[in-house]
Amino acid sequence: MIIGIDLGGMSAKGAILSDGKLIGKSRVETFAEHSPEETAASLARLCVEVAEKTGRGLDAVQAIGIGSPGIVDSATGTVAQWANFNWRDVPLAEYLKRSLGKPVFVTNDANAAALGEAKYGAGVHYRDSVLITIGTGIGSGIILDGKLFEGYRSAGSEIGHMVICRNGEPCACGRRGCFERYASARALIARTRSEMEADPDSALWEFAPSLDKADGRTVFSALKKGDKGAKRVLEDYISALGEGLLNVANIFRPQAIILGGGISAEGETLLAPLREYIYPRLYVSEVYAPMAIICAKLGNDAGLYGAVEYAFERL
Ligand code: BGC
Repeated sequence: MIIGIDLGGMSAKGAILSDGKLIGKSRVETFAEHSPEETAASLARLCVEVAEKTGRGLDAVQAIGIGSPGIVDSATGTVAQWANFNWRDVPLAEYLKRSLGKPVFVTNDANAAALGEAKYGAGVHYRDSVLITIGTGIGSGIILDGKLFEGYRSAGSEIGHMVICRNGEPCACGRRGCFERYASARALIARTRSEMEADPDSALWEFAPSLDKADGRTVFSALKKGDKGAKRVLEDYISALGEGLLNVANIFRPQAIILGGGISAEGETLLAPLREYIYPRLYVSEVYAPMAIICAKLGNDAGLYGAVEYAFERL
């Protein structure tokens, strides 16, 4: 049994892959204010919980695979840099190895998700695909000619930090106008909240009774009620997401762009306006080089599948 962990800016999820299905799923909250050691301790607790939920306990676990945000030196399992948590050279694998006594393998979270989708999900039919994970930040996993492209020392594939607005919103990475400042789930939630503040009669309030209750789903729920504010929020969001994806298309022209993260559960509600935005603006037409825009099949679980797969391939 191998435990897969998907570490994120708000929570970390863990599970075991058994006969192609995730079992023992569990989660813990994560906090930017916590020290890396505290976060590693939460992850160790999560592993114990997952193992116990399956009824077999930690003894039956052979290894742990982790997908972590940031630049991960996968040779050592060190997170070299994660801007949102202000992590530098965090020996994540070492911390967990010490407390659990199991081999631990770490890769970037979006790379793990891309691996999961390529092996088990929406990417199985494509040689060139780019997976974009939409969560607290924006991550990317690039599969070229069937292989994961990570850049020198796994420091590439940081599409979330591609600038789409010069002198725009400040980003934790130190620059301004990064894609993830406009198209992450966090950005969507922030935009939803400002629309709520601007309009006390908006249907958005029906789905989020207070500002802090607004989440990535709020705008989609209000949209179904035909709310004008929700429509504005979504239009704005689609254009930001669309511009970033057009850049991705112009650089890689993959056969498929796959969207992951919680928001991918919205399916066609998200995809239809996105395709409508992107296809007419492509530099080389969709007729010449078809490019599918689809949601991750494994949804929010892609990273878990991929984290297990990553450890499995290295055991
Ligand atoms: C980080 C990426 C990560 C993504 C998703 C970004 O802010 O720079 O490394 O993959 O968030 O968590």
